[in-house]
Amino acid sequence: MAVNNLVHVNECGLPLNAVEWLVTHHRSKAPEREQMIRDLQLKPGSLVVDAGCGPGLWIPLLASAIGPEGRIIGVDISTEALVTAQRRNAHKWYSRQVQYKQAALEQLPVRPGTAHMIFCANVSQYLPDPAQTFAALGRYLAPGGRLVIKDIDFGTMRFHNIDAGLQAHVLQARERWEQIRVDEGFTFEDSYIGSKLAAYLRAAGYTEVQENSYLIRRQYPLPPEFRFYLQGIAEWFVCEDAPLLSSEDRKNWLRCFIDGPHSVLDQDTFVSEETEFVVTGVWKNNPLPQIRHFDMQVKALPFLEDTLV
Ligand SMILES: C[S@@+](CC[C@H](N)C(=O)[O-])C[C@H]1O[C@@H](n2cnc3c(N)ncnc32)[C@H](O)[C@@H]1O
Repeated sequence: MAVNNLVHVNECGLPLNAVEWLVTHHRSKAPEREQMIRDLQLKPGSLVVDAGCGPGLWIPLLASAIGPEGRIIGVDISTEALVTAQRRNAHKWYSRQVQYKQAALEQLPVRPGTAHMIFCANVSQYLPDPAQTFAALGRYLAPGGRLVIKDIDFGTMRFHNIDAGLQAHVLQARERWEQIRVDEGFTFEDSYIGSKLAAYLRAAGYTEVQENSYLIRRQYPLPPEFRFYLQGIAEWFVCEDAPLLSSEDRKNWLRCFIDGPHSVLDQDTFVSEETEFVVTGVWKNNPLPQIRHFDMQVKALPFLEDTLV
């Protein structure tokens, strides 16, 4: 474990964003993520923007939900992520329904007022001003369309067989360190954002804001991909030498996760819990009733080319 460096960094310098990491993370939480998409009850034929699509891991789930008449536009600032997304989703039944565009969230390459859903997973934690970005996304939504923000909240993480005091020290030290890093001009990061999302959507001007929480609970014996995920997270919590943590806490924490006699991952009492949040809202200026929303989806399809700018 190389704990002095940032962990799983992508080409834009974002930690926990390397493609390999995102793929394993996604696979390790597959059942919950499938449930998240089912709970959105997407209508067949919808136009969905996957904002901050990364390597395109949610695209198969979104495509299954909207069916062969739907359309997806995957948007990301990272070229590497977009190329990977395109490769991963090539030669699939839905390939011709998906387009990939390089852009920032605030400037979507989509005609205003056309997206039935803007889906944004695991990106809000990197937005310096989440409410402002959510407000900027509103104008791209069709009347009655929804913004969907999904993200983590590491404040909800618990390990049943790790000393509670040690866990609290590590989680709190990381949260404070993220704030200090921002003050020092590092890339913005809020890994504790999940439970704040509903407030951000309301502050941005969304109505009908709804929050769903998903408990991700795993116990011994762990699937290999979840073990890889937890070891990466453990390392990330104390990367850059964890300046706000005592060296004793740092050593004890890492010992819990590194393969060896002290690993808690190999104890039959091991249980981990983490809650992820999916929050939806309707843009305030688009208050059409649901029935009109459905009509508009059907009509919008032949004009898909007009939605791209
Ligand atoms: C943690 S990854 C999540 C990828 C994917 N949504 C997922 O859940 O697997 C975050 C992605 O957001 C992209 N990103 C971050 N800030 C962005 C912004 N302002 N505009 C567009 N993309 C952004 C990054 O390039 C990265 O691919």
